[in-house]
Amino acid sequence: MAESKKASVDQEIAGHEYDGIKEYDNPLPRWWLWLFILSIFWSVVYVVYFHLGPGLDPEGEYQAEMAAAAAAHPQGGEVAAADLEAKVADPAVVAAGKDVFGKNCVACHGPDGGGLVGPNLADDFFIHGGTPADLFRTISEGVPEKGMLAWKKMLKGDELVAVTAYVKSLRGTTPANPKAPEGQKL
Ligand code: HEC
Repeated sequence: MAESKKASVDQEIAGHEYDGIKEYDNPLPRWWLWLFILSIFWSVVYVVYFHLGPGLDPEGEYQAEMAAAAAAHPQGGEVAAADLEAKVADPAVVAAGKDVFGKNCVACHGPDGGGLVGPNLADDFFIHGGTPADLFRTISEGVPEKGMLAWKKMLKGDELVAVTAYVKSLRGTTPANPKAPEGQKL
């Protein structure tokens, strides 16, 4: 290997000599050179798109994903009013809410919402208001001094919305053992 290298050295010397120094004519491989040139062009595209244009850096990407997740799963008792109105009318959401109600609420409000420790949810009387927004607020924030828990600490945002929808759907139904009306007539 070393032999053949030596033999061809004469041909590889570039055709110039400065201060007695000759230079091997040893160009970089074409593919390497193209890669290098492409990377320069790419860097221009990169700077324009990510630093000056609409491209997101990792921090921005993280913020955007968090915002999207927060919008999809409202937490801590927050929901847009229009969103709530639409979801409360959605039978699939009501069905999901029945599940949540069965697991968390029947002990105090009865299996059909007729009321036990907690008030009757099927009648037209409400202590804290009966609009979807009122129900959502009462369920999220609770009435701690009266024994109604703040469910935003225990349920996810979409579960809160679902159980609100279910409670709303209870109105006008006829529970087996309805508790006497409490609060204001709607
Ligand atoms: C530990 C018992 C208890 C549990 C469990 C409970 N509640 Fe209540 N809830 C109450 C009491 C007591 C009140 C009445 C508060 C008051 O008098 O101000 C109430 C009130 C309410 C009201 C307001 C009714 C009105 O007249 O304004 C709603 C709506 C409600 N609860 C929904 C729920 C939902 C939904 C769940 C399950 C996620 C739930 N509650 C679980 C005890 C409970």
